[in-house]
Amino acid sequence: MAGECINAMSAELSNLNAPGAAAAGRCAVWLFAYGSLLFKIDFPFIERRAASVLHWQRRFWQGSHDHRGTPEAPGRVVTLVRQPGQRCEGVAYLVEPAVFAHLDHRERNGYSRVAEALHFDDAEAVEGVVYIADERNEAFLGPAPEAEIARHIARCSGPSGPNGDYLLGLAQALRELCAHDAHVFALERLLQQELSNAMAPA
Ligand code: SIN
Repeated sequence: MAGECINAMSAELSNLNAPGAAAAGRCAVWLFAYGSLLFKIDFPFIERRAASVLHWQRRFWQGSHDHRGTPEAPGRVVTLVRQPGQRCEGVAYLVEPAVFAHLDHRERNGYSRVAEALHFDDAEAVEGVVYIADERNEAFLGPAPEAEIARHIARCSGPSGPNGDYLLGLAQALRELCAHDAHVFALERLLQQELSNAMAPA
């Protein structure tokens, strides 16, 4: 059932976050979450399972103009970057297609829906949907040394709160999943150093 729905939607998945693109069909769809969708769950779901996507890695390479920064001082948030042999761990939510109207709005700053195989821990795989912000979007910031990314995150804030809270919330959500991500945990350590340096008396 979910697979049929994915097929119905897949013609639209290559479109850039097209409004209403989720309206096809009435069956449920698996959504893969790897960033804020792991810890800020402001949408209804039917089922939630630990899952991974293959040949992708999570990177703080996307700029955030609307949640964790501003157009003048964009924050840094995660996207997925192709990396053969890598596995990105996260969560799959089974959602009603109507949920995508809300999510498209939430993820509008550069993310597009992409169809991708989601792998569950028991080796079962299903086709699902993932929001990815690739290098063609205007808010994309790209790679930088991790110490620089952590300093950037430490100083940014936006309508959804401090950029640091996004990183700390993500790291905590990954720990709760027993998921490992060297990039996220290195940035978490660097951010904590930045924050304690900022608190230290001059
Ligand atoms: C996601 O969480 O899956 C998408 C990226 C984000 O909203 O941080």
